[in-house]
Amino acid sequence: MKLFFRLAKYLTPYNNYVIGAAISMLIFSLCNIAMIPLIARLSEAIAQKSIFQLNLVVAMAVGIYFLRGAATYGQGYLISFASQRMLFDLRTQLFEHLNKLSFDFFQKWRTGDLISRSTNDIDNIQNGISSTVIQLLPNMLTLLGAICYLFYLNWKLSLLTLMIIPLLSLIINKFGKEMHKVSSDAQKKTSDISSILQEKVAGVQVVKSFAMEKHEIKKFKEESEKSFWLSLKQVQINVTQTPLLAFIQVLGMVAIIWYGGYQVVTGKLNPADLIAFFAGIALIADPVSRLGDTNAIVQRSLASAERIFEIIDLEPTVQDAVNAHDIEIKGEVRFNSVSFKYQEELPLVLEKVDLKANPGEIVALVGRSGAGKTTLVNLIPRFYDATEGEILIDNIPIRDSKLHSLRSQMGIVSQETILFSGTIKENIAYGKIGSSDEEIKQAAIAANAHNFIIELEDGYETVVGERGASLSGGQKQRVAIARALLRNPRILILDEATSALDTESERLVQEAMDKLMQGRTTFVIAHRLSTVQHADKIIVLDRGKIVEQGKHDELLSKSGIYKMLYEMQFKEPA
Ligand SMILES: Nc1ncnc2c1ncn2[C@@H]1O[C@H](COP(=O)(O)OP(=O)(O)OP(=O)(O)O)[C@@H](O)[C@H]1O
Ligand SMILES: [Mg+2]
Repeated sequence: MKLFFRLAKYLTPYNNYVIGAAISMLIFSLCNIAMIPLIARLSEAIAQKSIFQLNLVVAMAVGIYFLRGAATYGQGYLISFASQRMLFDLRTQLFEHLNKLSFDFFQKWRTGDLISRSTNDIDNIQNGISSTVIQLLPNMLTLLGAICYLFYLNWKLSLLTLMIIPLLSLIINKFGKEMHKVSSDAQKKTSDISSILQEKVAGVQVVKSFAMEKHEIKKFKEESEKSFWLSLKQVQINVTQTPLLAFIQVLGMVAIIWYGGYQVVTGKLNPADLIAFFAGIALIADPVSRLGDTNAIVQRSLASAERIFEIIDLEPTVQDAVNAHDIEIKGEVRFNSVSFKYQEELPLVLEKVDLKANPGEIVALVGRSGAGKTTLVNLIPRFYDATEGEILIDNIPIRDSKLHSLRSQMGIVSQETILFSGTIKENIAYGKIGSSDEEIKQAAIAANAHNFIIELEDGYETVVGERGASLSGGQKQRVAIARALLRNPRILILDEATSALDTESERLVQEAMDKLMQGRTTFVIAHRLSTVQHADKIIVLDRGKIVEQGKHDELLSKSGIYKMLYEMQFKEPA
């Protein structure tokens, strides 16, 4: 019920539409109820053989039906407007929230699941609202009105009619609970299926290169099969419920027919009233039989709402402090005894890291794979917060800065190059929305990307795929570097940014970047040690600890890890 009210709250901004729809429904219901006395009058008119009365009744019926039609239009349009707007709000809120959530969330949750929640579950809610508001509410109104009228006609008969209601609600309630559970499972399955689709389509290269198509198809079929049975189970609940409800209704009817007939026979009730009473019962029968169906749909949409609120209720692990403010970065970065673990139960990935980068310095991070280099640089833009210790930029703890302010002054080229679908120009401009063509070109020149771009048929307007599919690995990297440079960031983070380049391109990018790095603090991670020789400071990480630091020559003169790594890379193959 709490869930229901929470969902209903989203409708409040559109109260006017909902009220309008409610009025239309009221008119609709009144029109329905007005048919009862009309039918009584019809039978009287026929009994009295009055043509005038007959015409009048028919004319009134046509008028009432016209009004009823107009009301149907009004309620359908108004409620759809309100519910579609509400879904728009909910979907936007979900997307906004997804954008706020931190890195750890996206590592835990599957993309396909999130997509399924933002599309499929939103659709379910929409279905739920249209059936509750468009069907359930007017039906309930008709039901209430008809019951009142029946009581007015004959209270004894009416009481008999109402006796079946507790029985009906018991059944509807029981089936509703079952439906909620099965729906939850079914929606989870839908998420699983979209996760498989998303992962396997995105990773099609791996699937194909391992010739795993058959295996994937088999797995997909298995999941689809489960989904099939869950859907069928939903249907099963519905088709068991509907005839059961109908049977109970018939029992009620039989009792009424018998008792009503008995009263007419004994002269306590006139036949026209009994006919009107039956017409009223017929009016009740339809909404009652729909109650079960509607409840099933409502339960399904509530299960979906649960899945959406589950995400909306998650707090981002990294967010602005209450007193956070904007900062103007000059470029000094300091780590004060920083330790970090990804999760409470996991071991430390960084342990008591102390380091200082002066404004404009180039700091290189080297170390074996898994040493913690990427983790270390990810703490600077606060992709994660340090578990212990603190990071200061220009002596201000980064936790006191607004995230937007902090990140907007950083340029980051991450280990995995991701380009969005769109043109090369758009991809570079992502670094700074609204930048001029000239700025984009300058950034591309600096990243040594300009030359290859103008050789493409459409130049800067070349459309690249979702993951930059039509570009080579090195080309993608250079576009990503241009994108980061365009921001003119105060702090530049390059995580293996030149790893996919050949020696020649790397040298060119290096030269350009040496120029660009001037005046900005740069963190470079590179496995190829040739890239980092000229850094102002080389930091050697091993198992999350800084084991050596200094300039290239200093480190070579010690016989530590750096020397060992260096010798392995430059030793002539034996
Ligand atoms: N999201 C994560 N959750 C849990 N553990 C992680 C996560 N990301 C990385 N790790 C672990 O943290 C350690 C350091 O990883 P990191 O990516 O920082 O290494 P790296 O030095 O950048 O390695 P490489 O040179 O291969 O890129 C590794 O042991 C890794 O398994
Ligand atoms: Mg890394």
